[in-house]
Amino acid sequence: MSQTRKIAVLPGDGIGSEIVAQAVRVLRALEPHGLVLDLAEAPVGGTAYDLAGDPLPAATLALAREADAVLFGAVGGWQWDRLPREKRPEQAILGLRKSLQLFANLRPATIHAGLESASTLRPEVVEGMDVLIIRELTGDIYFGQPRGLRTTGEGLREGFDTMHYDESEIRRIAHVGFRSAMKRHRRLCSVDKANVLETSQLWRDVTTEVGRDYPEVELSHMYVDNAAMQLLRNPRQFDVIVTGNLFGDILSDEASMLTGSIGMLPSASLDAAGKGLYEPIHGSAPDIAGKDVANPLATILSAAMMLRYSLDAEPHARRIEAAVAAVLAQGLRTADIAEKGQPVIGTRAMGDAVVAALG
Ligand code: IPM
Ligand code: MG
Repeated sequence: MSQTRKIAVLPGDGIGSEIVAQAVRVLRALEPHGLVLDLAEAPVGGTAYDLAGDPLPAATLALAREADAVLFGAVGGWQWDRLPREKRPEQAILGLRKSLQLFANLRPATIHAGLESASTLRPEVVEGMDVLIIRELTGDIYFGQPRGLRTTGEGLREGFDTMHYDESEIRRIAHVGFRSAMKRHRRLCSVDKANVLETSQLWRDVTTEVGRDYPEVELSHMYVDNAAMQLLRNPRQFDVIVTGNLFGDILSDEASMLTGSIGMLPSASLDAAGKGLYEPIHGSAPDIAGKDVANPLATILSAAMMLRYSLDAEPHARRIEAAVAAVLAQGLRTADIAEKGQPVIGTRAMGDAVVAALG
């Protein structure tokens, strides 16, 4: 394992630089164990807009393209909210996903032992939950054309977006769903709104067709409103969920809360060859930025996913995951996952603890 891995590090805005710094420390701590990394950092999001007038500067995109994987923090902040849409920080992450064709977004929502009571649901409901949400990431209403804001003949302002999928986009994400289910408990739930939307009817038809290639996987279909409810009612019924971009955005935030904190959940966004961008699913949390209180674990766990999916370094991935489990077992908590009265540590101290637990 001595081959050099090139990683583009894009911390972004708000808490992004603090949490990414801890993930980088954890990666660096693995170097004596045989991991050889070439880390190069570049600005992205509002930070890049302030520096270069563009949330995704050409040099940042080029760095991301050349790298074996991208480690991403978070983007966004109130100071950029009034910019025209194409200059807003969010365009950076959407642009990276689209340009690098990162169509498969893996968002595992697992409950870590000891954090059951951090969930807003009763511990017995969430205990042992382990759902993998697979969200299509480069299509749907996020990218469909036409879209816009205009004024009608009657002088009314109107906004419109287009929900769109063609069958090839559905097929390739369905395959990711089935292949992932094969590696887990072989149950795949496809989430749509086929009772109302044509796009969803196609989604359901194509997913069913792809399912014929995977006779060992039990495929079910669920309407998104019911899925939102079932996740709260009995999250343990799910193994793998596959869904479109918009529904996946919403359901993955919901699932994160079941696990206790959005500060715990990593994600991988992969292209057809397994190259990926890795980011926590939470945002830039400008209200707590710079205060050393953010939870770095979602980003640290994203680095573990990066080692697993893009860098072919499964043993290192497991090392990180075991270290995170160990610090949680020691009772170490950032504010977002602490119970009332439990002592709390900061971002940096949590990074220290994970590094120490790597052994
Ligand atoms: C996410 C975020 C993004 C999305 C935003 C920041 C554009 O909510 O990664 O879930 O909607 O995809
Ligand atoms: Mg989201």
